[in-house]
Amino acid sequence: MSMQDDLKMIEEQVKKQLTSAENLEALESLRVQFLGKKGSLTAIMRSMGKIPAEERPAMGKLANTVRANVDALIKERHDALEKQRMSERMQAEAADITLPGRRQLAGTEHLISQIREEIVDIFCGLGYIVADGPYVETTYYNFTALNAPASHPSRSPKDSFYLYDNAPEGKPAIELGDSDVLLRTQTSDMQIHYMEENKPPIYMICPGTVFRPDTPDANHLPQFNQVEGLVVDEGITFGDLKGTLDYFCREIFGKDRATRYRPHFFPFTEPSCEVDVSCGICHGKGCRFCKNVGWLEILGCGMVDPNVFENVGIDPEKYTGFAFGIGVERVAALRYDLPDLRMLMEGDMRFLRQF
Ligand code: DAH
Repeated sequence: MSMQDDLKMIEEQVKKQLTSAENLEALESLRVQFLGKKGSLTAIMRSMGKIPAEERPAMGKLANTVRANVDALIKERHDALEKQRMSERMQAEAADITLPGRRQLAGTEHLISQIREEIVDIFCGLGYIVADGPYVETTYYNFTALNAPASHPSRSPKDSFYLYDNAPEGKPAIELGDSDVLLRTQTSDMQIHYMEENKPPIYMICPGTVFRPDTPDANHLPQFNQVEGLVVDEGITFGDLKGTLDYFCREIFGKDRATRYRPHFFPFTEPSCEVDVSCGICHGKGCRFCKNVGWLEILGCGMVDPNVFENVGIDPEKYTGFAFGIGVERVAALRYDLPDLRMLMEGDMRFLRQF
């Protein structure tokens, strides 16, 4: 067979086989079969040197034409297969753009943050300054400087979360020093920090998180929030304390809820009391929510103990003051008659969306 016939036959073979190359992979192996390094057309092109010189121009021309034709055929098939593949993919991955979009759920401020802001606003309206303090504290600021005796039970590891290796597990409370490190159990530590840094007159509130190793139940959480308040000025009396906290209770709970001041003991105030608000569920009659008392405690308060003033170098002969610590979760529970404080920590949207 002449080279001319070979070339014609190759072109025919390509044409025939192209129709059965059903995808790009098959087409590529076809291309290799004819045009690859060991391809049949490549072999002919290579052998061009072996034919007589006078036949070479015509044969060369023919070979080039066949090669160009084969190239063009393969390219044409390639484009068609590519187009087919694309349209198959478009169909498979088609998105229904008429479907409504997925809306992002916009969150709201957590109830506790809302109440905390409301409490802060009430006191800011009275001219108080907002301070902030550390969550990790030493026993000095959390207890000692606040006039809590070394034997005070709240210092026990059962009632405070101690940190690091100095956790005084098994150590009697009485042996605790002033530099043991714990998560603060109350925001009252900020009274000391603030009085160390600022001279009277002081009208300060400090919202913040506190920690106690309590098992969560309807009325207790191991982590909760307080807003501490401190007033130090000349001539401050218990009347100022009562006027301020009555005003606060009316602002936050409305006028239909009663308050009562119940004597209590706190190491850092003298005299001290706890303030209760009438139960919104039973209105004072007694129910499961208020443990049949009719009242719910929301804050502790009292006149700053002269010993505390001495610990921070303020003259108790010249200045008097009052302090208070409001439980933010308690206020939330009372405002909205929440039957269980744990609901605040569960992140159940059905509960949270109500506020
Ligand atoms: N720190 C107290 C507690 O956590 C609350 C408290 C009571 C704060 C009396 C005060 C206060 O400032 O005067 O139980």
